[in-house]
Amino acid sequence: MSKNFDVIVIGGGPGGYIGAIRAAQLGFSTACIDEWKNAAGGPAPGGTCTNVGCIPSKALLQSSEHYEQAAHHFADHGIGLKDLSIDVKKMLGRKETVVKQNNEGILYLFKKNKVAFFHGRGSFVKAVDGGWEIAVGEEVLTAKQVIVATGSSARALPQAPFDEEMVLSNDGALRLGAVPKKLALIGSGVIGLEMGSVWRRLGAEVTVLEALPTFLGAVDEQIAKEAHKAFTKQGLKIELGVQVGDVKVGKKGAHSQVTVAYTDAKGAAHKLDADRLIVSIGRVPNTTGLNAEAVGLKLDERGAIVVDDECRTNLPGVWAVGDVVRGPMLAHKAEEEGVAVAERMAGQHGHVNFNTIPWVIYTSPEIAWVGQTEQQLKAAGRAYKAGTFPFMANGRARALGDTTGMVKFLADAASDEILGVHIVGPMASELIAEAVVAMEFRASSEDIARICHAHPSLSEATKEAALAVDKRTLNF
Ligand code: FAD
Ligand code: NAI
Repeated sequence: MSKNFDVIVIGGGPGGYIGAIRAAQLGFSTACIDEWKNAAGGPAPGGTCTNVGCIPSKALLQSSEHYEQAAHHFADHGIGLKDLSIDVKKMLGRKETVVKQNNEGILYLFKKNKVAFFHGRGSFVKAVDGGWEIAVGEEVLTAKQVIVATGSSARALPQAPFDEEMVLSNDGALRLGAVPKKLALIGSGVIGLEMGSVWRRLGAEVTVLEALPTFLGAVDEQIAKEAHKAFTKQGLKIELGVQVGDVKVGKKGAHSQVTVAYTDAKGAAHKLDADRLIVSIGRVPNTTGLNAEAVGLKLDERGAIVVDDECRTNLPGVWAVGDVVRGPMLAHKAEEEGVAVAERMAGQHGHVNFNTIPWVIYTSPEIAWVGQTEQQLKAAGRAYKAGTFPFMANGRARALGDTTGMVKFLADAASDEILGVHIVGPMASELIAEAVVAMEFRASSEDIARICHAHPSLSEATKEAALAVDKRTLNF
């Protein structure tokens, strides 16, 4: 195998593997280096997303939602079940199979697109005439251009380092061997809510401790309020405005416990005992091992690689994408950047529109949004119109037995251009795609209101929310 490439991609997560495939499609000889190992020590490309992120979390969210439905909602449909049980081992086994299928799928895609795959840690050696030397294990590869897509890792609390047995990152949170009786989480962000939901549905008593005084501060306030109400009703205990202090881990083994000391929003001191603790307080970019310092690759104060709007680093021919650079830590954002960089290398005009990147939280109800929130528009002094439509008034939602939440449209007061769409409710993850397309084409709320939507479907709630902007809903 040749050791000289046009493009070397370091990191095989969504940013890296998709960027490598696009580069190969554009005619570049391309290599992708990734160090993730499966349980047998073999290659497991796909990064955080495939191995300990998007994919396994959604597999467990699905399994636990099936259980929740069977345990609490089948009866409403006249379906009775006797001796309902959970086999956590089997559930985790299914999740592992889903992960493995994705790992293998990526190796197949590399072969199909003639991307050379190297399993190991990639690091910069030095600049060479017109390119870069990159070491992987004993080998040294060269390339004219390099894309760094090394992703991110869970941020630990200084007083409670991860041991993945009692104090868990997203990794340990996805492979608990049994349902803990009491589960504590620190951080009520995306991981806290998704993982908290999984283990609550399976029977754990879950308490989430959050430092900020507001719940889901980045989400539209009205939507966040509705979601908070739903989660609280389900039994998720969420304490806002807390300050976490000492974390004590008791003896490891059958009856070990974690105790989290914290002060609540009013300043009162508490101790929370739990069987396990998940810490989900954000993620830090992965740059250790890249030998960044030796070649002068510029990092910011958070350790992220500094890039311009087009993902160029300070080094010639070196680009960086995904979680290791600024912007939201989302798999689809990483992928779009990978594609855009490959196209820029080929002299094309790859572009990522940060205003239309959708966000989804895969809880039940799901939360999804694109564009600006009402509080952002208010802060910017932008004149806007709002329209909402509750799933309660949607026939398909009633038939599904899932009427929580609403769709909300925000449109410019004068031009009616859609500025943001916010959904809390069933299948919000799928419904948001229509809003993304609309915003990408700079549609008005009237455009959506005039489009024929299938009946009965949840998407009719989107149309009705668009109609609500002009105060002319038909079904509410
Ligand atoms: P990563 O996926 O982190 O991949 C980086 C890869 O590079 C890894 O395989 C790593 O081992 C490898 N690497 C690092 N350094 C080197 C080196 N020097 N040499 C060789 N290889 C190296 N996002 C969503 O959009 N939707 C979701 O539903 C979602 N769910 C998530 C759930 C959880 C629990 C977590 C933790 C994250 C989730 N995310 C989700 C975020 C998503 O996983 C990340 O945004 C995404 O994986 C970033 O892609 P990336 O390619 O930048 O990095
Ligand atoms: P997050 O940034 O979503 O949430 C972290 C939360 O922890 C915040 O609410 C923050 O205020 C709180 N926090 C920080 N320090 C704290 C402390 N000392 N005590 C108490 N609370 C504290 O980060 P999270 O949940 O770790 O997820 C990381 C990233 O992974 C997300 O931002 C997202 O980009 C990505 N992700 C995306 C998913 C999706 O798209 N569905 C699912 C899971 C993760």
